[in-house]
Amino acid sequence: MIFIKLVMIPEQIKREVDWLRAEIRRHDLLYYQEDRPEISDAEYDRLFDRLVELEKQYPELLTPDSPTQRVGAAPSEKFEPVRHALPMLSLAKVTSVGEFREFHRRVESILANEGGRIQYTAEPKFDGLAVELIYENGIFITGSTRGDGIIGENITSNLKTLKSIPLRLSGDKIPPLIEIRGEVIINKSAFHKMNEERRHNGEEEFANPRNAAAGSIRQLDPKITAGRPLRFVAYGTGRVEGMLLSGHFETMMLVRSFGFKIADDLTICSTPQEVENYYAMMATRRDDLDYEIDGIVVKVNNYAQQQALGELSRSPRWAVAWKFLPEQAITKVRDIVVQVGRTGILTPVANLEPVRVGGVIVSRATLHNEDELRRKDVRIGDTVIVQRAGDVIPEIVKVLPENRPEGLAPFSMPKVCPECQAPTVRLEGEAATRCVNPYCPAQLLEKITHFASKGAMDIDGLGYKTIAMLIEKGFVKDVADLFEIPKHKDKILELERTGEKWFSNLEKALENAKSRPLKNIIFALGIRNVGEHLAGVLAKTYGSIDNLQKQTIETLTQTDEVGPIVAESIVSFFSNRHTADILEKLKKVGVVFPIEEKPSGKGKFAGKTFVVTGTLDKYSRKEAELEIEKRGGKVTSSVSSKTDYVVVGADPGSKYDKAMKLGITILSEAEFTRLLLEND
Ligand code: IVH
Repeated sequence: MIFIKLVMIPEQIKREVDWLRAEIRRHDLLYYQEDRPEISDAEYDRLFDRLVELEKQYPELLTPDSPTQRVGAAPSEKFEPVRHALPMLSLAKVTSVGEFREFHRRVESILANEGGRIQYTAEPKFDGLAVELIYENGIFITGSTRGDGIIGENITSNLKTLKSIPLRLSGDKIPPLIEIRGEVIINKSAFHKMNEERRHNGEEEFANPRNAAAGSIRQLDPKITAGRPLRFVAYGTGRVEGMLLSGHFETMMLVRSFGFKIADDLTICSTPQEVENYYAMMATRRDDLDYEIDGIVVKVNNYAQQQALGELSRSPRWAVAWKFLPEQAITKVRDIVVQVGRTGILTPVANLEPVRVGGVIVSRATLHNEDELRRKDVRIGDTVIVQRAGDVIPEIVKVLPENRPEGLAPFSMPKVCPECQAPTVRLEGEAATRCVNPYCPAQLLEKITHFASKGAMDIDGLGYKTIAMLIEKGFVKDVADLFEIPKHKDKILELERTGEKWFSNLEKALENAKSRPLKNIIFALGIRNVGEHLAGVLAKTYGSIDNLQKQTIETLTQTDEVGPIVAESIVSFFSNRHTADILEKLKKVGVVFPIEEKPSGKGKFAGKTFVVTGTLDKYSRKEAELEIEKRGGKVTSSVSSKTDYVVVGADPGSKYDKAMKLGITILSEAEFTRLLLEND
């Protein structure tokens, strides 16, 4: 006999659930789309909690587009690739009125025979991460990163946690299929708050909102993403089915009606002059906005005209990014101090009279090294131009010699280390001045911070300040001591800015760090001249620390990418008496030194060596390298007779010339993309 459980859900409950969902969606829109919340966070939470309660009581009422379903997916192992149905192109750039007018003239001349006047739309260029959201019958199905423009990563679970991304489109004109494109960003205010919290928890701070957004959206655990203040702003569409749209502006109005935030300042410009005015207006408003923008995007509004203009391989002819110039200001050099880094490198840094450069107060600028300092001839007391280009550390562009008072002495690098007073050295052929005392306290702090950092042992919760404190209080004298931290629990918990929760997280992080891949360990050791990439090469080539340790300068230099200087650094690192002690100690505290097998040599690029040079449009250098390696190929940094292909982007340097000279096959980005995708 079959029993059918009939659950009678009272009508009244159904109505309440519907009302709660509609109400929560309405408040999400008010908050994220219109920036004018009507209720407090606590009131919002009450609505939400009531919905959770009812759905728990009556699971039959649960639907995938309920606002409670934003966080729920389990962490994934890796992101699956998603092929964009229409490539996500990038934008050609202009940086001056002259260049913009040239763009306009080209548009005009191509459209000359088409008739119709040209209207542009202008909107901010958001500085975040591009994503695509696929909606089928109004329901959010798949979300992906831009990736290389052709293939991105499936980050649906993460994107579902963003309340500014509707799980179901609003309105009654819902197309059967629509792909919404836009940028994931973090507002400046939320970014500062988040960094403050991270500082407080001893976590590493993010350098800028863009990095924070990129790092947060690519978390394997959606719960981590959910805790980050990410927002989505729509700026376009991919495929749209079952709807006829005439242009960008109309489309964006429709996208807004679906419940998305679009640029507040999306405007129609009927003449190029209006675009120029818009640019000037946004350049002055830029710092007052609560989100980072790095220029404006100008698009030909009409879709028929867009089609007539067409596309180049990587960017459409109907749109252009008009970027802001780097922001500059004039100030005075108060002092030049010298900092000592992990590898003992001395970096001169100028302390400046605080000055507003764009939106931020700048009081320090790096001077890189002795040669750079000489070239610019920056002296204490000088008046200088400082510049913030995007978000990199501010730099001194040049000295204003006419403002130099008489009698200023040129600055020279110190003969002794400012931290430990040991003599400094500058090796032949190197720009860096170094302190070579392995016990130098500055080096210790930097070395340990490097050891714990991402890409190395990746110990979450161990930032620079925490390590400084642990060194200062005598708990940590070398990298292996980090793993003994749990032994000092009681005493450490007495220190400021610590806590039970932080400590137990740290214990877990330390436990996890004991089993990192070989390449991380090699990188973490901080061998001079061995960066993350080279550490990977060494791990792949030698398979274990013991094997790497046995190598000589001669055998090492036979490895691709290892020249005599790197080989010398490796050999001298392992022949140092302290290295053996530290490795021994690390093994004793439980760090596993894995033995890795050599790659199998499978894949269509097996046995082929690539060099990538110049700036590619669709790929970052790292992405291009990954694509090659995924297919069994090897990537090296310099061109030699062993190189099979040189992939050449914009502004290639001497590697291109060398490849030409050696007669090596040169691939343009388009050819490279084709080769990647061929028989994939
Ligand atoms: S439209 C073909 N509009 O800029 C046009 N892009 O270089 C495609 N971006 O990866 C883009 N703000 O992430 C467009 N208002 C905006 C934008 C914008 C930022 C980014 C986008 C894209 C890159 C193109």
